[in-house]
Amino acid sequence: MSLKIVGTGKGIPARSVTNQELSDFLDTSDEWIVSRTGIKSRNICSHETLSDLSAAAARQALEKSHLLANEIDLIICSTIEGDFRTPSLACCLSHDLGTMCPAFDVNAGCTGFIYALEVASSFLAAKKANNILIVCAEMMSTHMDWTDRNTCVLFGDGAAACVVTNGNALKYLDLSVTANPAVLNIPSGTGNNPFVSKPRENGFVNMRGQDVFKFAVGAVETGLKQALHALNVSTEQIDLFLLHQANKRIVDSIRTKLQQPEEKFPINIERYGNLSSASIPLLLFELLEENKIKSGDTLFMSAFGAGLTTGNCVMVWE
Ligand code: UT7
Repeated sequence: MSLKIVGTGKGIPARSVTNQELSDFLDTSDEWIVSRTGIKSRNICSHETLSDLSAAAARQALEKSHLLANEIDLIICSTIEGDFRTPSLACCLSHDLGTMCPAFDVNAGCTGFIYALEVASSFLAAKKANNILIVCAEMMSTHMDWTDRNTCVLFGDGAAACVVTNGNALKYLDLSVTANPAVLNIPSGTGNNPFVSKPRENGFVNMRGQDVFKFAVGAVETGLKQALHALNVSTEQIDLFLLHQANKRIVDSIRTKLQQPEEKFPINIERYGNLSSASIPLLLFELLEENKIKSGDTLFMSAFGAGLTTGNCVMVWE
């Protein structure tokens, strides 16, 4: 395993939407959303494309890495769906950046960043790439039923990127799937195919929120236990827990069970909502910008999402 992150970036749409604005057209309230989720506002694309957000995040990550786009050997995008079903978002980004290296998408729901890290790590280990650009970008607003208060208040749009290269930061990475598509899904439709007996429409997010909540708390705990065991370290030796930002109550439940101080569990969900696979790399970007991660810090990253997928990794920051 040989990987380190050398630069990060973000691409966030300009329009911020407050809970109050949602309550203008939905039967909801700022009080309900804040107390049940911790979310105060989220950014929603009004004119930006996902390619725009991805390119902004990628350019910033390249600049911070002191690399030019043509020095990238591989582009991996993580997204539920790009601007097109095909070509991939990674191909659209390649067009924007003017690169000619291989580029493809991974779709592991909200766990996509950890999956992308695993793919990047394998390419580096196989010496098939030296500099890899990972961009996690999600336009959740297009997958929402904006009349469904159970889901549309939860998510936001945004992108975050990082450049990875050979290094020793990544100490542990574990992926898994506990397959149960019914708990969280976005149905794809059958188009106007005249031969289907029962046409399905393109659908919106379906989510059994409490099932996901319980799964998430258990999955992060189990994932942490396995990581600590594999590395022979204690919970106290983890300096920062970068958890998928789906609900502040999920983060709080895990922190309480682990009896760890609040400052070890950074959150930004109050400003962005759930950004699916972009949530952990965006949190990472912000912590680095605020100089809250220093060389030698041990980071535990853990994500869960549709599938149900999980991914956990430990990095000692270089
Ligand atoms: O990224 C991974 C994917 N997602 C997640 O990880 C989400 C995990 N789950 C959750 O975060 C929480 O389960 C939710 C935030 C989705 C829901 O919170 P909850 O505390 O589990 O609420 P609930 O679903 O039990 O709903 C409680 C009540 C219901 O009313 P009744 O049936 O008790 O009268 C809902 O209809 O709250 C109502 N409700 C709302 N009320 C005002 C649901 N959404 C809203 C809303 N505003 N936006």
